[in-house]
Amino acid sequence: MRIDIMTLLPDSVSHVLGESIIGRAEKKGVVEINAVQIRDFTDNKQFQVDDYPYGGGWGCVMMAQPLKACLDHIVEQAGERRRRVIYMSPQGRPFNQGEARRLLRDYDHLVLVCGHYEGIDERFIEECVDEELSLGDFVLTGGEIAAMAVADCVCRMVPGVLADEECFTGESHWDGVLEYPQYTRPEVWEGRAVPEVLLSGNHENVRVWRRKKCLERTMDKRPDMFEKLQLTSKEDLRLMDEIKKERGLEPRIFDYRRGESADLDRIMEIVGSAQRFLASQGLDQWQSGYPSRAEFERDMERGWCWVFGDEGQIVSVMAIVPEDDPSYAVIDGAWLTPGGNYTGIHRVAVSEDCRGSGVARQMFALAEDLSLGWGRASLRIDTHPGNRPMQRLLAKCGFARCGSISLASGPEAGHERIAFEKVLV
Ligand SMILES: C[S@@+](CC[C@H](N)C(=O)[O-])C[C@H]1O[C@@H](n2cnc3c(N)ncnc32)[C@H](O)[C@@H]1O
Repeated sequence: MRIDIMTLLPDSVSHVLGESIIGRAEKKGVVEINAVQIRDFTDNKQFQVDDYPYGGGWGCVMMAQPLKACLDHIVEQAGERRRRVIYMSPQGRPFNQGEARRLLRDYDHLVLVCGHYEGIDERFIEECVDEELSLGDFVLTGGEIAAMAVADCVCRMVPGVLADEECFTGESHWDGVLEYPQYTRPEVWEGRAVPEVLLSGNHENVRVWRRKKCLERTMDKRPDMFEKLQLTSKEDLRLMDEIKKERGLEPRIFDYRRGESADLDRIMEIVGSAQRFLASQGLDQWQSGYPSRAEFERDMERGWCWVFGDEGQIVSVMAIVPEDDPSYAVIDGAWLTPGGNYTGIHRVAVSEDCRGSGVARQMFALAEDLSLGWGRASLRIDTHPGNRPMQRLLAKCGFARCGSISLASGPEAGHERIAFEKVLV
């Protein structure tokens, strides 16, 4: 991997990256990192790299000419490579471990452009930059700290930089969890002892203890990451049960009953909040008036509408439909039970304050119980291709992704949906 950092502060960059593990890797020739002075490529006698912004305002803007000349020089020197020119910018996509893995997998030459002052002339970005990456939602005075973070993170995964792949594959953010706690000598410090299991010499017990800590820490420190985890291994599920029991975390139990006309106002409130949530995710699902009040009225007449509540307040709604759905007649993929003896789940909406509360699991469990009573072989449901939270939830609840279908009727007729099925018998 070769990384060129275009900067006005090459000495600072070289100093930091020349130290420690990355510095040693460079000396071994495993990675090559160059800090290139943009100022060396100006075409004016004053070595000026910035100028006033057109339109007025504070500060200066870095000029396109020295940036382009600097980049041309780097490209000429490096020759034909799998290259990516990246502008470090607070407006870029947030950088993370996944982005670092992508850069290492897809390229062997990164050019990291560091801006200063008010930033760089937009025309350089349009002409020369492949992508923008940000260190986070805050503004730094220059791109160097961000570029060094990217260079460090990418380089430490290059084979030969660390002693073993496990050094980074076992760390936080590699597979969606945070790392377990670490301890070193002495065994007791300030009255605090190292957990006994780590002194036991039993490698299997150590491994299981560490996995449990990874799950616990992710749950406590990064609930956003924990929410996205799809735990499927028996061991993880058992460890999660253990953690919940230890913490006295019993699942919240919601009441349920068939929906009645008096519930319609509240149901439409919940649907409205679900529609706003979907719009905020950039999805066009439920943005054309579906599901309407009339749909829920029809569900109620047929006994299909179910509401779940907590302390007298309705928190979610769904239709459990024991009839064939024309949208499921044709699938690009394959249903698990081609016979078609299924119950459909539709119009699922959960109030904003109860997302993640476990109510959706209980809703699916009710659909399952009713369906078993009706002698149905499976449950079927569909969701928008971009509705990742719903897809994750369905996977967690044991539904399998079967393919894509096209909605047969309603204002979203013809729209593609991802179809899921759970076999019951
Ligand atoms: C003061 S900032 C310019 C901010 C710019 N005026 C804006 O509001 O989007 C100067 C330079 O610092 C770098 N920078 C600032 N914040 C950054 C961040 N969060 N991630 C990556 N680079 C950043 C960029 O290279 C940027 O050109």
